[in-house]
This record gives sequence, structure tokens and C-alpha cells, in this order.
Amino acid sequence: MTKFTIPVDKFLSQPTPFYYYSLPLLEATLSEVNESSAYPGFKVHYAIKANANPEILKVISRAGLGADVVSGGEIRAAVAAGFPADKIVFAGVGKSDVEIITALEAGISCFNVESLPELEVISALALERGKVAKVALRVNPNIDAHTHHYITTGLSENKFGISLEMLPSVVDEAVALKGVELIGLHFHIGSQLTDMKPFEMLCDTVNRLNAEFNDKGIKLQTLNVGGGLGIDYNQPDLHPIPDFKAYFKVFADNLKLLPGQELHFELGRAIVGQCGSLITRVLYVKQGLNRKFAIVDAGFTELIRPALYQAHHKIENLTSPDKPLEKYDVVGPICESSDCFGKDELLPEISRGDILALRSAGAYGEVMASTYNCRTLPPSLLI
Ligand code: LLP
Repeated sequence: MTKFTIPVDKFLSQPTPFYYYSLPLLEATLSEVNESSAYPGFKVHYAIKANANPEILKVISRAGLGADVVSGGEIRAAVAAGFPADKIVFAGVGKSDVEIITALEAGISCFNVESLPELEVISALALERGKVAKVALRVNPNIDAHTHHYITTGLSENKFGISLEMLPSVVDEAVALKGVELIGLHFHIGSQLTDMKPFEMLCDTVNRLNAEFNDKGIKLQTLNVGGGLGIDYNQPDLHPIPDFKAYFKVFADNLKLLPGQELHFELGRAIVGQCGSLITRVLYVKQGLNRKFAIVDAGFTELIRPALYQAHHKIENLTSPDKPLEKYDVVGPICESSDCFGKDELLPEISRGDILALRSAGAYGEVMASTYNCRTLPPSLLI
């Protein structure tokens, strides 16, 4: 397999911290997505929330994927990057009137609707503009994705989607309202799933509902199974590209599409996660009473996943990869104890000025950065 090495020599003179993206890896990942999803009716949308860097978006739109957006800002980012409006789907539990109007005016392909009141507002705003909005109902299938509780979305106690029990009454309303056309069903059970079993369970639920709709004479054009495929955070060099073949095969083998139906996917992390690293410099090596700290110039303002989800990103000492191993707590400069990238990390001996990489940070890294402590947002370097 091709090795996607990080070009540390190009970083030496760069101010840190910054996000580094490997375009060759992103392009190889996109080719793999396109090859592995080449089943009849399969269409992949990229979930822009994972990474909205304009250059990354352009590469993804050029590869022919559609876009899954969750805000007016993401609609504008998608259009600016060249995603055609008829390949943009708009999801989200709290779409504002202004965002719905933006979507109607852009002519996006479908609203993924999460509640009855939202359906009524979309219908009214569409009618005021002489339009009929295409909608898919987001169903909460009550499937446990066994992922971090902050990123599981398909359980009935989550705020997302319409429960199976309430679906029939919302469908009746969707059929009755004049400003909307019901074209499909939408599901998303969670993120960072590395086990295929929950996706198989999702296929069973989708098949059952699809058959029920068909029996009632409602012809669904699209079934959208969301995103969620995970990446290998522990060994990014061993698995730089997720196993898309196995993922799409689960759906090809288990999901029964009716003639003419399309199956939509909304992958975020699996597409961009491995192509990005957060590059940071060591400011100080501080000896505590019982622990040694490597204090770096990036903090949870640049990468919040460890603080928010207890996530771990593999840390590498790019400057001195061959020195003997020592134990460090790798921490940032933010005035909070949760600003820690790793405890008891075994790393080649670190000195002030060394450059470290926090790997697998292409998804939900740069997009979730903040200016807390009056810090500036991190720049990016695409190679
Ligand atoms: N579709 C819907 C409706 C979603 O809510 C999401 C992600 C996706 C697609 C894309 O999921 P992916 O393929 O990336 O797993 N910030 C968290 C992840 C939040 C995911 C939110 N929804 C993290 O850093 O782990």
C-alpha cells in the first residue's frame, strides 16, 4: 500500500499550530469511495460538518460527491465549492426560517425533516415562494450504535429524528401538506462506528419501512442511511483509508432497493479523517513531582475532541522519531485541566522546539476550533 508520509522538512519554518492536509491521501480515499460504492442507485454525499476547509471541499466536489449540509453557512460553503444544488441535502434538527429560505432559493435537492412543526414551516415557506420542497423524513430507528454517548444519534432518547411510533401521523401530514413532496426516508445512527453489525440492523429496519410504505402506495425515491463509518485512530499508517468495500457491501448485501430507488450515504469522518494532522511545537518540557509534561502550542482551541469526547489522537514526535522513549503528559496552553492530548504517552525524547503531529485530525478538528482565550483560529497547509 502507498505510504503517505508527513513532510516534516516543509514544516520547520512554518509558524505553529496549523492543520496539515495530505491531498494525495484525500484523493486516494475519494477514488476508493467511488470504486467501492459503484452499485446501482448508490450515491454518496460528503457531510460538510466534518471539515469545511474550502480547498478540501473543492477536491471532494470535483470527485463527484454530493454534499450533506446542516446550516445556511454550509449551504453557502457547498455552493462556493462547486457542489451542484441538486446534489445538496439539508439535515438538522433546528433549521431556522432564514436557513430554510436560503435552501429553497438555492434549489437544494432535499430537506431531511426531523419533526412535524419543521415540516409545517418548510411547507408554508415553500408555498409563499410558489415552490414545493422535496422532503425526506428522518426516522429515529432506536438502534444502539455502541459509540460515545455524545455522538450516538439513533436512540429514542436522542433529540434526532421522528420515532417509529410517531412516523405514521407525520407521513399523513407530509402527504396532506401542499408545500412539500415526500420523496424519502433518512436515518443516521451515530458516528465512529467500526463494527458493521449496527449498519446491518439499520438495513433490516429500512427494508421493513420501505415495504410498508410500498404496500400503502407511497413510492419512496430515496433511502438515506446517513454516515458514521469510523477510522483507525490508533494506527493511522496501517489503515490510512477505511474499509469502504466492506461498508458498502453491507448495504449491497442487505438493503433491498425497489426498482428505481436510490440509496444515499452521508459520510464525513471516513472521507477526511486520516488526511489531516494538527501540527504543533513543544514550548516547554516541564518536570513535575511525579510526571513530565510536554507543553505544546496547540490546545483544545485547535482540537477539542480529546477534551470533549475523551478521544485519543496518535501523537508523533516528527523532529526526533528515533530517540529513546520516555513518558510524557502532552498538554496545551489553555487554562483548563481538560486541555490534555495524552497522559503517560511513550514518545521519543522531547526537547523544546520539537514538532509533534496529532494524527487523524482531518475530521471534526479544524471545523470545531474556537477562539477561547482570545486565540486565533489555526491556519491550514495543504500539500
Ligand atoms: N449525517 C448526519 C445526519 C449526521 O448527524 C452526521 C454526523 C453525519 C451524517 C456524518 O457522520 P460521520 O460519517 O462523520 O460519522 N464531532 C464528533 C462527531 C459528530 C458527528 C455528528 N453527526 C466527533 O468529533 O467525533
